[in-house]
Amino acid sequence: MPAGLIERYRDRLSLEPGDPVVTLNEGSTPLIPSPALSERVGAEVLLKFEGANPTGSFKDRGMTVAVSRAKGRGAEAVICASTGNTAASCAAYAARAGLRGAVIVPEGKIAIGKLAQALMHGARVVALRGNFDDALRIVRELSQKHPIELVNSVNPHRIEGQKTAAFEVVEELGEAPDALAIPVGNAGNVTAYWRGFQELGTAPILYGFQAEGAAPLVSGQPVAHPETIASAIRIGNPARWEEAMAAFTASRGRVAAVSDEQIIDAYQWLASCVGVFCEPASAASVAGLLAHGLPTVDHAPPPQRVVCVLTGHGLKDPDTAFAKAPSVINCENDLADVERAVFD
Ligand code: F0G
Repeated sequence: MPAGLIERYRDRLSLEPGDPVVTLNEGSTPLIPSPALSERVGAEVLLKFEGANPTGSFKDRGMTVAVSRAKGRGAEAVICASTGNTAASCAAYAARAGLRGAVIVPEGKIAIGKLAQALMHGARVVALRGNFDDALRIVRELSQKHPIELVNSVNPHRIEGQKTAAFEVVEELGEAPDALAIPVGNAGNVTAYWRGFQELGTAPILYGFQAEGAAPLVSGQPVAHPETIASAIRIGNPARWEEAMAAFTASRGRVAAVSDEQIIDAYQWLASCVGVFCEPASAASVAGLLAHGLPTVDHAPPPQRVVCVLTGHGLKDPDTAFAKAPSVINCENDLADVERAVFD
């Protein structure tokens, strides 16, 4: 029987003894070797494909714990601000738990698959004329005013759940990788990986990547109008700013920026040459490794084994896929025509 994260790791998570287990059997995602990427990078690279979670992103790891705790506390409703994936996951786990869900997303700026998920799972979906940072500020206030549980990654139980990805990586490799490359938006996930690695007594180099137009951690100041094709990480003022920077420093790693063009190149290359279809924001981790090379630490040999986190599934964002992929070839119902279409 496949087990969800709470069943596998309950003693290391933040739940209370009486809390129910709200699960979709998330986690246990594949760690996929990529010889092609390894060759380009000059080290063994493995892809932690978080798109294989039940709602197609890593958010499910945090949501199983946050929604279980919310239900255990007697909450009747959950709310989040989101660039899309948190919304989809929040909506699914709320449905599973029999709670009401509300999600606030930046109008016109979330991938269509994520919107479909949130709506199908029955959440109330509010499109805000503002960006993610505005939405987060508003839901923080709403959750103070009303009896509704905030399940963004400012909720400590989200980080607890998400740290299990580090546990899985270490279990599967038998040790921590030398480095971990990861896209960074609101900075919850990198914070969670670091906690997970630290709880196991390990400390891989953390190598975070933001999109150039939404890179507050790189520039050192909030970005008022973040812009990037990678809508999931279009965030100008990350909630977990200090913790993420502390993690980069403690791990002797760093955070760097990648351009939209580098993100899209990596996104297409992963799909067409590696066989892994992730969403654009996820490809930032690979784009970063390709653009900036392996992280270096004074006097230490370069990393030999790197895990790249691919945070969400490519099917989330069909619009970007169609805009970047080759066209379909239309064809008459005729052998010769099909022959030409296939072989010419
Ligand atoms: N990759 C994807 C696919 C994401 O959806 C997110 C964040 C990140 C990376 C960055 O993770 O915020 O923990 O640094 N998505 C959030 C959302 C903001 O609302 O779905 P982070």
